[in-house]
Amino acid sequence: MRRFSRLFVTLPVPITAGLGFGFAKETSTSSDGKSKSVHISANTQSSSGSPINLPRYIDHTALKPETTRDDIEKLCTEAKHYGFASVCINPYHVPYAFDLLRSSQDVKLCTVIGFPLGGNTTFTKCCETVEAILNGASEIDFVANIGMIKSDDWDKVGYDMACIVLAAKYTYQWVNSDKTSLSKSDVAAIAYNIATAVDEMRKNGKVKKLDKIFSKFGDLTNFVEQYDYGSAENLKTKNGAEPCLVKVILETSLLSDDEIVRACQIAVQSKCDYVKTSTGFSTGGATVDHVALMKNTVDKESKKNGWKEGTVKVKASGGIRNAKQAREMIDAGADRIGVSKGVDIVKEDMKAHGKK
Ligand SMILES: *[C@@H]1O[C@H](CO)[C@@H](O)[C@H](O)[C@H]1NC(C)=O
Repeated sequence: MRRFSRLFVTLPVPITAGLGFGFAKETSTSSDGKSKSVHISANTQSSSGSPINLPRYIDHTALKPETTRDDIEKLCTEAKHYGFASVCINPYHVPYAFDLLRSSQDVKLCTVIGFPLGGNTTFTKCCETVEAILNGASEIDFVANIGMIKSDDWDKVGYDMACIVLAAKYTYQWVNSDKTSLSKSDVAAIAYNIATAVDEMRKNGKVKKLDKIFSKFGDLTNFVEQYDYGSAENLKTKNGAEPCLVKVILETSLLSDDEIVRACQIAVQSKCDYVKTSTGFSTGGATVDHVALMKNTVDKESKKNGWKEGTVKVKASGGIRNAKQAREMIDAGADRIGVSKGVDIVKEDMKAHGKK
C-alpha cells in the first residue's frame, strides 16, 4: 500500500502541456538563418526504421572536475554547430555558458544538482536548483537520494523529488516573468519555503501561510496547490516560454530492478519530466535493459494517471561512447542521450549512414 498524501495521488488533469516537451520536435529549423546547425542526419533511420535526428537527442556533456572555461566555450560552440539538445555542465559554469548560448534558441542549458552522490539534504538540493535556474539553467538533472531508495524510505524519496521539481518550475516561472530580480538570500528563502510548503501539502493537504518574505515572490502557495492538482496552466511560464525540464538520475547500476521500477513510479508521481540512468561517476552506466524497463514503467505509470504515453521520458547516460550504442538506447526508449563524445558520435553516425 502506498502512503502518499494527496501530493502524489492520481491527478484528474493531464499535465502534459504544462511540463512541455518542446525539444521533441524532430527537425529544428532556425528562422533567422543564422544558425549553422547541421541537421543532415535527420533522414537516417534508427534500427527500428523510424527516422531520427541524432543530434537532437544529445545532451553534450562535460562534468569532469577539471573542465575549464575553454572547454565550456568549445562545448557550447559545438552544441550550436551540431544542433545538440543541450549542454550539460556543472553549476559553477552555468553563468558563462548562459552568455555563450544566449544567441541560440535551440540549445538548452542543463546543469546537475546533488551531483554525483545525491546524498545532500533536500533543502541543499533545492538551494542548488533555485540558484542554477536564476543563473540561467533551463534543464535540471538531479541525483535522487540513493540511500533513501535503498532504505525503502519511499515517502522521503518522493518528497525529495517533488521539492526539486517545484523549486525548478517555480523559479523558472519567476525568471521568465517580468518581475524584479532576486538576491542571493532570496535563493535560500525560496528553497526553504518550497521545502516547507511541499511538506505541509503532503501532511495536511494544504499549504499554511508562508514566510512574509514570500509576498514579494508571487503566490507560491497557489503554485504548490495547483501543482498538486496538476493544472498544466500553472506550470507554464507566464510569457508562454517552454517550462524548464527536470530529470532525476537514479544511478541504476546501484539499484535492483524492483527499486528501479518503484523509483520510476515515484518520479512520475512527483512530475519529473525525465528519469535518467546514471551519473557516469558510479559503478556502471546505461544498459539497454534498464532503459527499456524505465520506459515501460514511466509509460504505465503515466497511463495510470490519465496522461498520455511519453509524458515522462527516459534519458540514457553513462558509458555511451559510440553511435551504435547511442542508437541502441534510443531504440530501447530513450529520448535523450547524455554523452561527452557527442561530436565523435554524430560524425560516426553520419559516416555509417552514408553522409559526408
Ligand atoms: C552534495 O552536493 C554536491 C554538489 O552538488 C555534491 O558534489 C556532493 O557529492 C553532494 N554530497 C553528498 C553527500 O551527496
